[in-house]
Amino acid sequence: MLSKARIAVLVSGGGTNLQALIDAQRDGILASGEICLVVSNNPDAYALVRASKAGIPSRVLSKKQLGGQAPFETALVETLAEFQIELIVLAGFMTILSGDFTRRYPRRILNVHPALIPSFCGKGMYGLKVHEAALTYGVKVTGATVHFVNEVPDGGEILLQHPVFVQPGDTPERLQRRVMEEAEWRILPQATEQISKEIMKEREKAE
Ligand code: GAR
Repeated sequence: MLSKARIAVLVSGGGTNLQALIDAQRDGILASGEICLVVSNNPDAYALVRASKAGIPSRVLSKKQLGGQAPFETALVETLAEFQIELIVLAGFMTILSGDFTRRYPRRILNVHPALIPSFCGKGMYGLKVHEAALTYGVKVTGATVHFVNEVPDGGEILLQHPVFVQPGDTPERLQRRVMEEAEWRILPQATEQISKEIMKEREKAE
């Protein structure tokens, strides 16, 4: 039997999207891939606790401690190779990756963004700021996007999107929670399964 696609999830904070992937694996929604590694650039990320509770190995790679972007990316490439990772999922990973890094993994890095790209995205648009911007603009529909990652922040090909209606009285926090529940936690596992399946098929052809 063919082995599952080996997945690394990159995180920086609470890790609710990582949890959605762990739950999807448990429930058989993520069936073609296996989360083999969690990497955090923040040693205090609660996502690391979630990884440990699920029995998934984790590594902390701090840009500051490693001496900047280039040594950070070198260490990341080495760690991913050590775990024979085939698919990288950015789940609330708050560090921009250079073209040198992303070009190594064409169509093999996914990111979840908490808005309907091309709205409210790009450099400086992350986390709660995205929902603040959506409310300030006054849009009535927002949502989430899963896309491939290239050298342009939030600029890679879109894979899945899901809309979420803004409700009267929404605060950035309330909207963030609803976008996560109704959109991110659904489409990130779906997209991860889709690409994992593709990786397994590709391997089958090569054999
Ligand atoms: C999520 O809403 C994710 O889409 C967003 O940060 C949050 C992380 O939450 N990511 C970005 O804004 C990246 N541009 P989590 O740590 O609980 O998954």
